Parts: sequence; C-alpha cells; structure tokens
Amino acid sequence: MPETAAAGAEPGVLRVLTTKAETRAFYDKIAHVYDLLSEHTESPLKQEGLKLLAAKPGEKVLEIGFGTGHCLVDLAKAAGPSGRVYGIDLSDKMRDLAAANLAKQNLADRSELFCGDAAKLPLPDAGLDAVFMSFTLELFDLPEIPTVLAECRRVLKPGGRLAVVSVSKEGKDSLLVEAYEWTHKHFPNLMDCRPIFARRAIEQAGFEIKTSNIGHMWVPVEIVLARKA
Ligand SMILES: C[S@@+](CC[C@H](N)C(=O)[O-])C[C@H]1O[C@@H](n2cnc3c(N)ncnc32)[C@H](O)[C@@H]1O
Repeated sequence: MPETAAAGAEPGVLRVLTTKAETRAFYDKIAHVYDLLSEHTESPLKQEGLKLLAAKPGEKVLEIGFGTGHCLVDLAKAAGPSGRVYGIDLSDKMRDLAAANLAKQNLADRSELFCGDAAKLPLPDAGLDAVFMSFTLELFDLPEIPTVLAECRRVLKPGGRLAVVSVSKEGKDSLLVEAYEWTHKHFPNLMDCRPIFARRAIEQAGFEIKTSNIGHMWVPVEIVLARKA
C-alpha cells in the first residue's frame, strides 16, 4: 500500500496502516494517562471548536472519539436536561472514564455512550442537531475519512452542524510537521494520527463550510464549523 494518498487527491497526506484492533488496544492502554499527555495543549483548541458548535438546550448532539469525556460533559451541560448527548469511541477504557466523568457531574441520565467504530454509527438517519469531533478525524485512513463524514451527514438533520478540530496539513510544512509525520511513518503505534486537510475533506463530503480557522499547538490545527445543507 502506498504511504501517501494518490497524487492529486490529498497530496502528501500519509496513510494510516494501523488496524482497528491496534488502535483500540493503544487507547485502552493509555486511557488512564491520556489527560496528562494531551489535555493541557489540546484543551483551548477543543474549547474553540465547542464554542463554534454552540450546542443549545434541547439539542441532540453526538461526539465521535470522545476520549476521557471532557467535551461530552460540556456538550451535555449545553444541551441541558431536555437535550441528549451521544458518544461513540473505539476504546472501552475511554468509555468507562467518560461515563464516570458524566456521572460525577450528574449528567449520566442525558447521555448515551457506545463502544464501536465511527465508520458505522449506531444511530438513525437525520436525528441529530450537531456532531463534534476533536483530534479524531485524523486517525482514520484516507479512504475512511469520507465514510466517517458521510455517516456524520447521514445522522444529522438538514441544517445540522458539524464541528471538527484536527491536526492540519494546511500552510507550509514546518520542521515540526515533518517530525510529526516522520514519527507517524516510523512509529505508527506511538503516533497514530497525522496532519490532514480537514476543511477540504468536509467540503468534499458535501457539507457547507461556515467557518474555518487555523489554531496552533506545536503544529497547525484546523477548527471547522460546517452545516448539512
Ligand atoms: C486522540 S483521541 C481524542 C480524544 C478526545 N476527542 C479529545 O480530543 O481529547 C482519539 C479518540 O478516538 C477514539 N477512536 C479511534 N478510532 C476510532 C474509531 N474508529 N471510532 C471511534 N472512536 C475512535 C480513540 O479511542 C480515542 O479515544
């Protein structure tokens, strides 16, 4: 299998060659230290994505790849007692941590968590107001990114919103982006994600882009709000 996408489609974006079983085992293993590894640097970017999504009281919202569940807690608070929050994650250790975080905040009764693959969402067509995804779309291999986004479109109501926060390949490649990609290529079990063109993928999946910003961690991060037309 080539290491990058076919020229023209997504030039230079690396493939993801790890299996779902490997991904699940990786996140099960690091779940209890995940916040220590990432929360400090990623939290401001996730908050920006949540702000753009602007979940409202009474809405039905899904988070894909919820990890330890901090954004799920924020989404459940915003959806209020008349709303409902759904989550799907491949790792059942992550699901347990997220469920505990929701329970600690007395939000368990307005949430429903699934353990599974976001390439096939266990939700009916056109039932959701909004979908949120942070640092997760870039874990999917190139042929699967359109599948996941098509699933997002399928479960959203017409006019429904999608917010994605993703490590990005937009702009000029820096040494840090190159180092990130080198690590992904040589140690895919350590660095499972890699920079992608998130806005472009979302647009190609048929969404209308409402806002697209570039934030910065140590690599660029796209924060995109889109709408199902
Ligand atoms: C990098 S973490 C991001 C977690 C959280 N969104 C955050 O920003 O802190 C990626 C999450 O996606 C989950 N994940 C990976 N592949 C997935 C898949 N195919 N379907 C659903 N979740 C997946 C992982 O288990 C992990 O919890």
